[in-house]
Amino acid sequence: MAEVVKLLTCLIIVYVESGGIVQLFDTIDKQLIRQPMDTLKVCVPSFVYVIQNNLLYVSASHLDAATYQVTYQLKILTTAVFAVLILKKELLKTQWFSLVMLVLGVVLVQLAQAPGTSQIHSGPEQNRLIGFMAALSACVLSGFAGIFFEKMLKGSDITVWMRNVQLSVCSIPFALISCYVYDGDVISRQGFFFGYDKFVNYLVLLQACGGLIVAVVVKFADNILKGFATSLAIVISCVASIYIFDFHLTAQFAIGAACVIGSIFLYGHSPKKSATTLSAHRV
Ligand code: C5P
Repeated sequence: MAEVVKLLTCLIIVYVESGGIVQLFDTIDKQLIRQPMDTLKVCVPSFVYVIQNNLLYVSASHLDAATYQVTYQLKILTTAVFAVLILKKELLKTQWFSLVMLVLGVVLVQLAQAPGTSQIHSGPEQNRLIGFMAALSACVLSGFAGIFFEKMLKGSDITVWMRNVQLSVCSIPFALISCYVYDGDVISRQGFFFGYDKFVNYLVLLQACGGLIVAVVVKFADNILKGFATSLAIVISCVASIYIFDFHLTAQFAIGAACVIGSIFLYGHSPKKSATTLSAHRV
């Protein structure tokens, strides 16, 4: 459903940008239907994202929230590795160091929030190894899909909105198949929208908006900077929790937050890198 919301949103944006319904169909015809190979290429990240999202559900159901979130932060490093392999990006030693520092910082921040192990109840069906392997696989897929999508977004004139239309057109069939493979019985007994309460609808909207924001960030910045942005967001949400949820600031949290913030400066600090980053931002 998140993909459906994204598809409709992007179609509306393309409609507004192109100036009418005829132009919308014309753009779809030119960029989607008459370029089947290009559309098929977008199927690669869309298929990978569907698997990644399902692995994350598997992982979240087998691990406690803290272990799950902490393990998933390794995607920062897998993203950097794929940026080097696929985009031929050159990272300085200080930048690699800053990425490791970022992972450590987010891990410390997330663990500072987590309840003590005595408060974590693993259900009888929980299998930590499966959860851990699923999270690690999701990290690899996240890095690969993000960088592959970045290459597609930056390597052509097709707008980010049309790219998302292509992505959704490919993901919706994959996602539908995975729904029926996992939950076919329940869906046929209770209907597709059974259990869609306010909270589920809110999650669908959150995932759809998040996906669109990811696409814009990847288009105009890059996947590595996205890693820094999301890590900083975790720190900021923890700081907000001090006021909203009575979260107690600990030394561990402060060290973690300092690592995250320090790593951001370290990543941008190098005469060579600063020049590239500045010109990228101007574009
Ligand atoms: O954890 P990670 O940063 O890899 O997650 C990116 C998320 O953004 C994925 O859940 C993916 O489904 C979503 N996404 C999206 N639309 C895009 C790009 C990513 O929904 N164009």
